Amino acid sequence: MKIAVPAEVDPGEPRVGATPDTVKRLAGLGAEVVVETGAGLKSGILDSDYTAAGATIAAHAAEALSGADVVLKVRRPAEDELSLYKSGALVLAIMDPYGNDAALEAMARAGVSSFAMELMPRITRAQVMDVLSSQANLAGYRAVLDASYEFSRALPQMMTAAGTVPAARVFIMGAGVAGLQAIATARRLGAIVTATDVRPAAKEQVASLGAKFIAVEDEEFKQAETATGYAKPMSAEYQAKQAALVADHLKKQDIVITTALIPGRQAPRLLTAEMVASMRPGSVIVDLAVERGGNVEGSLAGEVVEVNGVKIVGHLNVPGRLAASASPLYAKNLFNFFETMVDKDSKSLAVKWDDELVKATLLTRNGAVVHPNFAPKTEGAAQ
Ligand code: NAI
Repeated sequence: MKIAVPAEVDPGEPRVGATPDTVKRLAGLGAEVVVETGAGLKSGILDSDYTAAGATIAAHAAEALSGADVVLKVRRPAEDELSLYKSGALVLAIMDPYGNDAALEAMARAGVSSFAMELMPRITRAQVMDVLSSQANLAGYRAVLDASYEFSRALPQMMTAAGTVPAARVFIMGAGVAGLQAIATARRLGAIVTATDVRPAAKEQVASLGAKFIAVEDEEFKQAETATGYAKPMSAEYQAKQAALVADHLKKQDIVITTALIPGRQAPRLLTAEMVASMRPGSVIVDLAVERGGNVEGSLAGEVVEVNGVKIVGHLNVPGRLAASASPLYAKNLFNFFETMVDKDSKSLAVKWDDELVKATLLTRNGAVVHPNFAPKTEGAAQ
């Protein structure tokens, strides 16, 4: 059983799919692990750290991938990388499948069995494999630091002989994994924190972190959570009421961090250009949803834009901005899932194709896109 850990080809991706710790664990499952030279560098991991853990180092991707039964990656392999993959190889990565049909077709054509880690069900057994949570937590933390870096005032209140520096007011929109960590981080830095979300369960979590919850709590709000714990899209009427409440609150905020996502859809628009314009110059907005269309009108992916003195921060790959923290968590998530695909007695691959975690994440197999959400619809299929 050969496992390849190639270096990420996307220059914007500093994370890596395995660490010395997971290499040791993979070797314990009977695997031979081959890491492409330099794959861990941007996460602070040297080739020699990998070899000390039992891996061998390949001089280039082709050597690492040649004959590999399993590939552990951060991002979906690009079409030109796939020619190096063995047909039938298992590929675990963040696949970003929505709206990327051609890329899924390319993986199918390459014959790989690809698993989208972000489709992992949110059940207790799979918590240790939940890449969305492990990475969003770090993104929420980093968003507060990025905001404070762009902000020209201090966050905590400071009482000095020369006068009092007031505490900054921080508003977190979307109190999921990233938002809750952003609340905790902003609180630790001494800010006055408020937060909003459309899921009723968030109210108590926000309060338990010492922040104030701001939302229109009508009947629709009380129903607004799917069985999987995710938000569902809200009616236009609710959005209008919520927007009016938020518009008023915003005028008094110094920093706003938006984290709102709905799986498989464009991120909901939470701040209009008019709302941004209502904020005081010097205020900072961080749009963590910028890669999914953005929560903030005017935010630009990969840029910090300034509109009438208000900065809108749209950094890409925010967990990657903490790669040396993000990679170990991500690699552990991959390992925990991969471990379920190995027969520990025979030390060989034994994917349980009917396991619910496999079925939920498997995108392509045997030359076809097999995931029900992405497979081409058969014409005339029975309804
Ligand atoms: P997410 O990344 O999909 O969305 C972030 C937040 O934005 C969510 O809290 C969502 O409700 C909120 N949101 C969506 N539309 C909004 C709008 N129009 N206005 C304001 N907020 C909006 O969600 P995330 O962070 O991945 O998880 C959501 C929840 O799922 C968590 O808070 C948690 O309760 C649950 N969860 C459960 C896990 C498990 O294994 N049981 C693991 C991780 C999370």
